[in-house]
Amino acid sequence: MTRRFSLAKNFKHIMALLWLVVLYTYLGLAAALSKEGWRSQSIYQLLTDRYARTNGSEAPCSDLGNYCGGSWQGIINNLDYIQTMGFTAIWISPITENIQGDTYDGAAFHGFWPQKINQVNSNFGTAADLKGLSDALHERGMYLMIDMVTNDMAWEGNYTTVDYSIYDVFDDPSYYHPYCPITDYQDYTNAVECWSGDQHVTLPDLATESTVVLNKWQTWVSNITTFYGVDGIRLDACLEQDQQFFTPFETAADVYIICEVYDYPVQKVCDYQNYVSGLLNFPIWYLVIDAFESNSGSMSNLYDGITQMQGNCTDVSLLGNFVENHDVDRFPYINTDSALDQNAIAFVMLNDGIPIIYAGEEQYYSGGFPPADRETTWTSGYDTTNIYYQLIKSINLFRACVIANDPTYLTTNSVPFYLDTQVLGVKKGSTPATQVVSVFNNRGIDAVAYNFSMPGTGWVAGDIVYDIYTQQNVAIDENA
Ligand SMILES: *[C@@H]1O[C@H](CO)[C@@H](O)[C@H](O)[C@H]1NC(C)=O
Ligand SMILES: *[C@@H]1O[C@H](CO)[C@@H](O)[C@H](O)[C@H]1NC(C)=O
Ligand SMILES: *[C@@H]1O[C@H](CO)[C@@H](O)[C@H](O)[C@H]1NC(C)=O
Ligand SMILES: *[C@@H]1O[C@H](CO)[C@@H](O)[C@H](O)[C@H]1NC(C)=O
Ligand SMILES: *[C@@H]1O[C@H](CO)[C@@H](O)[C@H](O)[C@H]1NC(C)=O
Repeated sequence: MTRRFSLAKNFKHIMALLWLVVLYTYLGLAAALSKEGWRSQSIYQLLTDRYARTNGSEAPCSDLGNYCGGSWQGIINNLDYIQTMGFTAIWISPITENIQGDTYDGAAFHGFWPQKINQVNSNFGTAADLKGLSDALHERGMYLMIDMVTNDMAWEGNYTTVDYSIYDVFDDPSYYHPYCPITDYQDYTNAVECWSGDQHVTLPDLATESTVVLNKWQTWVSNITTFYGVDGIRLDACLEQDQQFFTPFETAADVYIICEVYDYPVQKVCDYQNYVSGLLNFPIWYLVIDAFESNSGSMSNLYDGITQMQGNCTDVSLLGNFVENHDVDRFPYINTDSALDQNAIAFVMLNDGIPIIYAGEEQYYSGGFPPADRETTWTSGYDTTNIYYQLIKSINLFRACVIANDPTYLTTNSVPFYLDTQVLGVKKGSTPATQVVSVFNNRGIDAVAYNFSMPGTGWVAGDIVYDIYTQQNVAIDENA
């Protein structure tokens, strides 16, 4: 009896140990998403201050230029809304302590005015809350991407008054470029070596080409990603930093970085992918807005843009596609035609690369110039019934299903194959049996039905395909 009992007891211990090992491995895997692992993700971008309050209050915010009360705990409490929409990762605002209080240019609710990088922004919660958010995501099999500013520190006042001793790491003028204002973002040296900001909030520009500055950022980022279990980084203002900074910084971070190179020329933007894994797909964003902002937008430029990106970028599957973000006019601000908006959303979600939807896009928010485009998500009541939430959810779930069925879907480049003045056809996938054929148009909500034939899908009459828009099987006819 004694022996059997002790065996049973040991068995329990072994099981407990195994369970711990399994749990640890699971958490370890979740926290160590590879760069390639980002390809299959779908990202929901939110501003921490604008997504959800800790106490759940959905009262309107009286001033979008100031803090509205969103927090990391608020996000934790409202992850179902995001995960149910099919997202597998969130991108949150920069986490560091910023300029305190209100300024002539508003408050640092966006997180882009760093001062103390070893402290978290207390408006968003505590370090434990942030760790809690990371854990909560990983427990769901989701991932955390944080926004980061390495280009500069921030100072309330003009450049003549900066007191460098207030910064906790970069506390000496020797870490910075001497003052000069950026006057031409197209001039590499001027953009990299001069300062942005204005006379009310100036942004002392770190010498990111200096080894001393790089090493300090490497030490910092390596600790931050491990400490908080960060899976990816969105890096701010890449056009304003030395290109040589990115590779060693990403190596130290040991996670995927997606850079903000806010510019149009395809060759210029793609060149940055020689230095960093990921890029926000600004060239395609310009073309998407142009194609869908009106019934006469250019479908052919978008058609050409797809292959130009493939030809110029190292790996289009690691780009991040978007219609909206916190810096640009929301689509419905430009045009209220909901059919155009839905086409734009569907295009970016199915294009080569990673879909990114900006909080409020699924609620048809219509803000223009910042901070108007930084609305509070809670004002919507987190409605999950509207057509945009449902569309995004359908495409996310569909894409996940396609990825699961076709191991090379993500790395098989899109093939634009059909074009007329208002319609664009694109196919993507390794075989006709698993491929996705997407048809986009800018005919708008009032368009009347018409028939047209679209050769080149690779399908033949009688093939049965699944239509994700109507969610029905349809047969290909002779006119395919
Ligand atoms: C909820 O929190 C906000 C700030 O985040 C605060 O302004 C508001 O008074 C709180 N509401 C309640 C009912 O406690
Ligand atoms: C790592 O970062 C955390 C959070 O900022 C901080 O508390 C900790 O002291 C850092 N560790 C090291 C070794 O710098
Ligand atoms: C900078 O601010 C200081 C203090 O407000 C002021 O005296 C000075 O004239 C300003 N200089 C410039 C160049 O704006
Ligand atoms: C790169 O993009 C440019 C347009 O910006 C295009 O003319 C060129 O053909 C592209 N290169 C390749 C190899 O596709
Ligand atoms: C399109 O073709 C189908 C099948 O031939 C036909 O039933 C339908 O009426 C046509 N619609 C229009 C708008 O011509």
